[in-house]
Amino acid sequence: MTNEKTLVVIGAQWGDEGKGKIIDLLSQNAEVVVRFNGGNNAGHTVIVDGKTYRFRLLPSGIISPKTLNVIATGVIINLNGLLEEIEEAEKNGLLIKNLYISDRSPLVLPYHILLDKFYEEKRGNKKIGTTARGIGPAYTDHFSRDTLHVGDLFDKEVFKEKLNYIYSLKKATLSSDFQLPPFEEVYNSQLNTFEKLMEKGVTITDTSKLIYDHIKAGKKILFEGAQGTLLDINFGTYPFVTSSFTISGGVCVGAGIPPQSINKVIGVIKAYTSRVGEGPFPSEIKDELAEIIREKGQEYGTVTRRPRRVGWLDFVALRYAKRINGFTELAITKLDVLSGLEKLKFVVAYKYKGRIIDEFPSSLNILEKCEPITEEISGWKQSLKNIKNYNDLPENVIKYKERIEKELETKITIIGTGPARDEIILLK
Ligand code: GTP
Repeated sequence: MTNEKTLVVIGAQWGDEGKGKIIDLLSQNAEVVVRFNGGNNAGHTVIVDGKTYRFRLLPSGIISPKTLNVIATGVIINLNGLLEEIEEAEKNGLLIKNLYISDRSPLVLPYHILLDKFYEEKRGNKKIGTTARGIGPAYTDHFSRDTLHVGDLFDKEVFKEKLNYIYSLKKATLSSDFQLPPFEEVYNSQLNTFEKLMEKGVTITDTSKLIYDHIKAGKKILFEGAQGTLLDINFGTYPFVTSSFTISGGVCVGAGIPPQSINKVIGVIKAYTSRVGEGPFPSEIKDELAEIIREKGQEYGTVTRRPRRVGWLDFVALRYAKRINGFTELAITKLDVLSGLEKLKFVVAYKYKGRIIDEFPSSLNILEKCEPITEEISGWKQSLKNIKNYNDLPENVIKYKERIEKELETKITIIGTGPARDEIILLK
């Protein structure tokens, strides 16, 4: 496994790859763990000693008392959500010290959440399927330069003045159907929560400098990605994407560090593909096998319990993910879910209007009409439970893994064989 100093972990598909466990593993060796994108719409699950931890905004390093945890500028902060998460973590016995948040991070304000629901409703049958946490509208306001940042809360007067201005702007520009929550309520609740966070010992600071100093001091730093490559706002399957930069380049813009500070990029691949909600999905399995995999892999939305669509591994999409992110190594999760299937498939290319396509199309209209060209490989019957050594894995698991490595010209160094922390095989 890797010994490099700065590591980035990125989801190679549409999110839900099982990054949480891989990040948990790698963060045990990290001195600093950094979240750099998204907000409390993300969610990592980590199971340690039978206890399940669900993180939304908190970096996974929070499990280890020695790690410095950073929520960097690219992350959008819902203060109330963060406080709730901290209180839940404390109840679970975790210590919230060493938590640093960027003073430049944009705030998700209560009206962003209302706007998220409002816009989704107005989209009618063209819904994106957002998590309704206000992330999209908050990033929109950030990019249109009409929002507040965590650091604004240090000065009540500055905060009041800026919020006042934004309220007048919103009143002048938003649809009259939309009702803004009362000003005083928003103002008071934000200040109140900010103070509670201060009392908990959270530090609001220039996290770009903090991370830089730790890089300079040669510390081991883990940048944990949320969501996945195909959900990236620029390079994902737009408009069925999230509102932030989920690719490895997102580390530089989200954490404020130069590209040459990144040593390794680990792509996390689930052994099959899943996708939440609408949008083209060329490798989708449409028969009863989908139900079997969904049930076994528990492919249901963490918050909504919506069933996820499932499909075969798609090499067209994965080659694209490798190119965009520059994966230097790979982790594969949920191989155990495929146990018992006689035959497995890879999508190796697409067919579009009689032509073979091997590049992931940028146009959704084309992607929608792509037919998968598949290659079959034998499955394995055995359960992977309790297998701790690579050499004890069924021969066909090894063949499956090697086929992926060959296709992506990248080594798989971590293999997930179950949800628990120790259900993992590490390779040099
Ligand atoms: P997003 O950041 O929201 O995209 O999710 P994620 O990639 O962080 O996914 P998460 O870590 O929440 O994992 C999804 C589920 O997969 C959790 O219930 C994990 O316990 C489970 N999981 C992770 N690795 C494995 C594995 O190797 N086998 C099995 N069976 N389950 C796994």
